Amino acid sequence: MNHTTTYDQIFAQDVLQGLSSPLKTLPSKYFYDEKGDKLFQAIMALPEYYLTRTEYAILETYKAQILDRFAKSGKPFNLVELGAGNGLKTKILIQYLCDQKVEFTYFPIDISGYVLKELEEDLKEICPQVKVHPITGTYRHALKDREWDNGSPTLMLFLGSNYGNFLEEDAKELLDRISDSLRINDGLLMGFDLKKDPELILAAYNDAQGVTRDFNLNLLERINRELGGNFELDKFKHWPIYDPVSGECKSFLVSLEEQQVFIEALNKTFQFTHAEPIFTEVSKKYGLHDIDALSQEKGFKVEKNFMDDEAFFSDSLWVKS
Ligand code: TRP
Repeated sequence: MNHTTTYDQIFAQDVLQGLSSPLKTLPSKYFYDEKGDKLFQAIMALPEYYLTRTEYAILETYKAQILDRFAKSGKPFNLVELGAGNGLKTKILIQYLCDQKVEFTYFPIDISGYVLKELEEDLKEICPQVKVHPITGTYRHALKDREWDNGSPTLMLFLGSNYGNFLEEDAKELLDRISDSLRINDGLLMGFDLKKDPELILAAYNDAQGVTRDFNLNLLERINRELGGNFELDKFKHWPIYDPVSGECKSFLVSLEEQQVFIEALNKTFQFTHAEPIFTEVSKKYGLHDIDALSQEKGFKVEKNFMDDEAFFSDSLWVKS
C-alpha cells in the first residue's frame, strides 16, 4: 500500500506519537471520518445522549434574549462561530436574525472546507440575503488573523460540548486566545454540559445500543483502513468513566489481553499489556460556579446562563470586560 497524501502522513504521525507515549492516547479529532460522522449522527439521536437536543431547545427558547443585545442595536455586527460543523443549531439563531431583518455577517470557522461549503449553501436557502464569510482552518489561525475584525461588535459562538473536549491546559490556552481576539463589550456564547446525576452522564457515553462503543472503536478501525493496522476490535473494550469531582468524563479503549498490533504505514509494532488503556476523549462537565470562575479568570462577565428546565446544559453568554 502506498500512503502518500499529507493528510495520511499527519494522521500517521499523530497515531505514532499517541501510541508511543507512556499513557497511550489517540486524538479525538480522528473520530470524524465518513463512518464516524454517521455514528455521531446516530449518537445525537440516542435517548441517552441528552446534549444536542437539550442545547437545541435552549437556543430555540432563548434566541431573542441571546441575540437582542446585538440585534437591537441597529448597527451591523459579526457572528463568529468556532467549529461550525453543519451548523444545525446555529441555523436557529440565523433564522431569527434573518426574520428580524438584522444586518450581520456570519463567519463560520471550521477545519473542513467541505463542511463550510455545504453550510453556506444551506444558509442561502433559509435566508437568501445572509452574508457568509467562511474561514477554513484551525481555531489558532483564525483567532490570530481575526478576519472579522472590521470595527463592528462581535458575538462569538463556541457551542456544544466543544470547549469541554479540550484537556485543562489546552482549554485554558484556547480561552486566552479567544479573550485576546475580542474587544470590550463583545459577546461570547459558550456551551457547557453541566454536572448532574453521574448515572445520566455515564449513560450518555455508554448507551444501551452500543453506538458510542462503535464510535470509539471506529478510531481503531480507521487506523486499520487508512494506515494498514491490524487491530482486532473484539480485543478492546469501550470504557467511559466519570469523575464527579473534576467533572471529567473520559473515554478509553482497554486492551483485553497482552497483544501486539502492527501498523503498516508506520512499519511498527505496538505492545499492549493486559488491561492497558488508550485514552481517546475527555468531555468535561461544569458547575455554574466553575463557569463563573472561568469567565472572571479570562476577563469576562457572565451576563446570563441560558439553561433547560432540568439544568442539564448551559449556553452561557459572556461579555468581555
Ligand atoms: N465530543 C462529543 C461529546 O463530548 C462526542 C462524543 C459523544 C464522544 N460520545 C463520545 C467522544 C464517546 C468520545 C467517546 O459529547
